[in-house]
Amino acid sequence: MTFRARHLLGIEHLAPLEITTVLDLADRYVDLNRRTVKQSDVLAGMTQINMFFENSTRTQASFELAGKRLGADVMNMSVAQSSVKKGETLIDTAMTLNAMHPDLLVVRHGASGAVNLLASKVNCAVLNAGDGRHEHPTQALLDALTIRRAKGRIQRLTVAICGDIAHSRVARSNLILLGKMENRIRLIGPPTLMPAGIGEFGVEVYDDMKKGLEGADVVMMLRLQKERMDGGFIPSEREYYHRYGLDADKLSHAKPDAIVMHPGPMNRGVEIDGDLADDINRSVIQDQVEMGVAVRMACMDLLARNLRAERGRKIAGEMV
Ligand code: NCD
Repeated sequence: MTFRARHLLGIEHLAPLEITTVLDLADRYVDLNRRTVKQSDVLAGMTQINMFFENSTRTQASFELAGKRLGADVMNMSVAQSSVKKGETLIDTAMTLNAMHPDLLVVRHGASGAVNLLASKVNCAVLNAGDGRHEHPTQALLDALTIRRAKGRIQRLTVAICGDIAHSRVARSNLILLGKMENRIRLIGPPTLMPAGIGEFGVEVYDDMKKGLEGADVVMMLRLQKERMDGGFIPSEREYYHRYGLDADKLSHAKPDAIVMHPGPMNRGVEIDGDLADDINRSVIQDQVEMGVAVRMACMDLLARNLRAERGRKIAGEMV
């Protein structure tokens, strides 16, 4: 197994072989999660703390379940009730938690780069559960697993990522992962929601859904990240749905067996038609949620192995 990382901060730092290692192990956890008894002991005795400075439903639930199924002691720090509200800095909070000897720290934060900064201050393995517009590595890995299971491979596919690309860490992590695995990437959305200079990244950019979806194997929809917008990026939601919302008509331009994805939370009637999102013949949105738990189990398992090995080497070094 190849997985050398000490933290999981972004897809940027992973080699293709490390990505494959996570996906292969996650496949095994999918099987475990489908059994009645889902317990494993690979994190037994370890402490996992989830720190979510930004709201989350599925990511936090998924990390919590993943840690519990692997036997860790899991604590969810409720930021709303913590000293953060009293003005404590991110680093002070992290140092306080670090003194309690956690082994795995799962962090979501609104500022890009905050999780990397935190990782440089603590002694445990840090997992990025989304930082600003920067990265959301476990989302890209669970998307990759969903695609690999639906299409039989995660290479040489045409993947269309549609909507609010500019504000999306999901798009960014997916772009990096899909690029590393040698896929063809199309970005579709209004020019106001495209990051500047994106054309230089070896991707094709479209502002017309029907043209952009032509021949796509995978159609990934994104939420309009209004909380990260500081002005009028779109004329109106109705107009946006008309031009960029995915419905059966627009999807008919993709390959007949193209799959539809969405990381959630979904705004029905804004970026996606509700019936299409629920169509189990096209939509793999529920599979993404299922794969999320398995991928997070795999990531924490691999990081815990590296942490144990590192601590073992340290003890051995102190003995000589
Ligand atoms: C995404 C996120 O938080 O970046 N959601 C998620 O993790 N499932 C996408 C979003 O908020 O739109």
